[in-house]
Amino acid sequence: MTGVEPRAVLTPDEIDLSDIAFWARPWDEREGAFQTLRHERPMPFFKEPEIPEALSAMIPQGPGYYALTRHAHISEASRHPEIFESGRGATSIVDMPEEMLDFFGSMINMDNPRHARLRRIVSAAFNPRMIKSIEDRIDFVANDVIDRVAPLGGCDFVTDVAARLPLEIICDMMGIGASDYDTVFSASNIILSSGDTEYVPEGSDAMAAFMMAAQQLNMLMIDLATHRRENPTDDVTSALVNTNVDGEQLTDTEVAAFFILLVVAGNETTRNAISHGLLAMTQHPEQRALWQADPAGIAATGVDEVVRWGSPVIWMRRTVASDTVLGEVELHEGDKVIMFYNSANRDEDVFDDPFTFDVRRSPNPHIGFGAAGPHFCLGAHLARQEIDVMFRRLFERLPDIKSVGEPDRLLSPFINGIKHLDCTFTPAAPR
Ligand code: HEM
Repeated sequence: MTGVEPRAVLTPDEIDLSDIAFWARPWDEREGAFQTLRHERPMPFFKEPEIPEALSAMIPQGPGYYALTRHAHISEASRHPEIFESGRGATSIVDMPEEMLDFFGSMINMDNPRHARLRRIVSAAFNPRMIKSIEDRIDFVANDVIDRVAPLGGCDFVTDVAARLPLEIICDMMGIGASDYDTVFSASNIILSSGDTEYVPEGSDAMAAFMMAAQQLNMLMIDLATHRRENPTDDVTSALVNTNVDGEQLTDTEVAAFFILLVVAGNETTRNAISHGLLAMTQHPEQRALWQADPAGIAATGVDEVVRWGSPVIWMRRTVASDTVLGEVELHEGDKVIMFYNSANRDEDVFDDPFTFDVRRSPNPHIGFGAAGPHFCLGAHLARQEIDVMFRRLFERLPDIKSVGEPDRLLSPFINGIKHLDCTFTPAAPR
């Protein structure tokens, strides 16, 4: 039993991807709805989610969007960034108001030439050679995280294990000290929570909490950037503030916005991939046995299957720059398209048995890291390495670890998140 076999309980007319109630449905019903759309209505048009009264002055109600549910359509849009832009209004469903652009105006929300310029400056820190060079550090942190829980015999896998590795590695790479880890953790939870009441208490102003969290990360980074300009080390912040590309340097605001992007793009996503991985392997013991028997061999395919399976980032938006046709739909300048990666990653036209979790799946042309194009995930090598090392060390040191009970899922149309997942294992001594 996979727990996510699609169950079609909605007709195409009943499906509304803008209704938060849709995202509160069980996963199998959502899979059923996306399967229905892929087959019967692959590019439906939806009204945008209602903007709450308090925010309507800052964020105007948008015109609606086309939902891309097929792998082929999303791949085509991603291959044509000159038509399907990221910088117009941003990659969120709503256009991003000016007030937010300082914090969230980084490369994910840019087009060329600015995008290429920024990506050139930062890409060296994330290329496979650099990631290889921090392999020992990733290994050290993974072991350290396991040491903290090993004697307990059980823990909250998400907060105690899966969340810690990506958080500590990205802070480490940027030069942020251990005393600030928890600040970064809670701020990134608030930014990506979509107002989930665990992170933003009911009755409080979700937008104010969101902006405050961004401001906190912004200040932390501006302080660090100022310091590193005078006292460079070998961390990424020092490289960012001191790199010259075509005679240009990043401003403090650009460095801070990039850091916020890394924190939100790099933490929650990898945390959720690792959590979905443990859950899937608990539900599919035969797949887990394969991985456990040959961690180095299976990781080459298993890691990407975990990303396909969990599809931690559900969608990204593009905005049409000039009239075009996609599939059979005529699109006009200014139209918004939302690319549903989760749906593409179950597309029967591309994957054999898409609802089967198969750690040896090959080929696996999933687009969980985005489709080929200029915005393909900058952190994909890092994320793959973290997932690989985490499972290698877990299977070695807590060999019978498994999730127990139902996962506590994040209510979000954007992140396929697990907030809490209990796990048990035979207690072990720290190293
Ligand atoms: C399993 C983990 C991850 C998933 C599923 C994921 C997913 C994605 C996706 C779907 C995009 C495409 C955005 C678009 O097309 O508009 C993206 C972009 C990006 N990701 Fe990741 N990501 C992961 C891990 C990371 C990590 C660890 C980092 C860095 C620490 C990172 C940094 C970025 C950045 C900076 C971009 C923007 C790239 C650009 O616009 O050029 N991601 N990611």
